[in-house]
Amino acid sequence: MSTPLTPDLILERLRGVKYPGYSRDIVSFGLVKDVAIDGSRVSLRLVLTTADPNIPRVIEDNVVAALEAIPGVSEAAVNLDVSAPATKAMQAEAGALPQTRIEGVKHVIAVASGKGGVGKSTVAANLAIALRGDTKTTRVGLCDCDLYGPSMGLMFGTHQRPTSDGAGRIDPVRRYDIVLMSMGFLLDDATPAILRGPMVTRYTQQFLRSVNWGELDYLILDLPPGTGDIQLTIVQTVALSGAIIVTTPQEVALIDARKAASMFAKVNVPILGLVENMSYFLCPGDGHRYDIFGSGGGEREAARLQVPLLAQIPLEMSLREAGDMGVPLSQREPESATARIFRTAADALRASCPV
Ligand SMILES: Nc1ncnc2c1ncn2[C@@H]1O[C@H](COP(=O)(O)OP(=O)(O)OP(=O)(O)O)[C@@H](O)[C@H]1O
Ligand SMILES: [Mg+2]
Repeated sequence: MSTPLTPDLILERLRGVKYPGYSRDIVSFGLVKDVAIDGSRVSLRLVLTTADPNIPRVIEDNVVAALEAIPGVSEAAVNLDVSAPATKAMQAEAGALPQTRIEGVKHVIAVASGKGGVGKSTVAANLAIALRGDTKTTRVGLCDCDLYGPSMGLMFGTHQRPTSDGAGRIDPVRRYDIVLMSMGFLLDDATPAILRGPMVTRYTQQFLRSVNWGELDYLILDLPPGTGDIQLTIVQTVALSGAIIVTTPQEVALIDARKAASMFAKVNVPILGLVENMSYFLCPGDGHRYDIFGSGGGEREAARLQVPLLAQIPLEMSLREAGDMGVPLSQREPESATARIFRTAADALRASCPV
């Protein structure tokens, strides 16, 4: 006796069909609509926005094959609903936000989390240094996008302010061969409270255009915590290569990580992977591993989102100390076990965003 056919079962199977060229599946991209079952006959609608005539054909073939492989399905009917991507004029009419490409920067990668305090800035700082590497041939920038509570100055041990180049543009600060900038630098203390929706868009675009980033291979954006308007506006305003989601292993953090994932799905930004921070604690005394916040959460969530688990970072005193001292651990102790974990994650990022 085979499992009864239900829309949930159909969707589950279709999660195995990837969008061509992406690691994401067509269900999580929200392309599958109106699943209907009539005896052994399954029908559904695929809603696609693409200018590439091959993509609908490839997806349709893969969907039909996936459906026909389900026991109990005798016939699969796929209705294609394909539209061309909106032109700039149409986007403006619909109120969509124009995305800013940052001149000279090959890949912009956002580091986000649903919940605050899970270690985004720590992960962003260490990944930036790991991506730079020790030969320093990879050019990396890091931008603190927290308008309310910037922390990169502390983590990189610099109080240096960016300076104006005299031509109305801003020269960022350099520290440990990383180009550093903070959105908070240009605001006075009273401004963040009044920055809302449309103003954040204008400010973000103006900010990104007015910084002399130079030629960069990677620019990491350390986002403020949460999935509110400001975060959505930032990820919608900048042309991103992808996003990394940082979480801790416990359920409350994972639920919020899921919200962050759906924020990126809304704006069609691929998720390059999940980083599980404070994964475990290795007791320096007996070498025993303690899963303080439970175990397996990051792995399960990565599988659910069908994205790689880029790293599991231990809860470690030296990581916190290094951050507080203004020298990220990957810079201070590049041969430590944790710095190596960040390097492995950076290798995976390089593979998904080649320069
Ligand atoms: N794996 C870790 N082990 C020990 N301490 C850590 C670890 N990760 C982060 N911390 C510490 O926890 C604190 C919060 O980390 P961090 O500022 O990176 O989080 P965040 O997600 O950026 O926070 P916010 O949401 O406020 O931006 C810092 O003091 C940091 O040094
Ligand atoms: Mg932070």
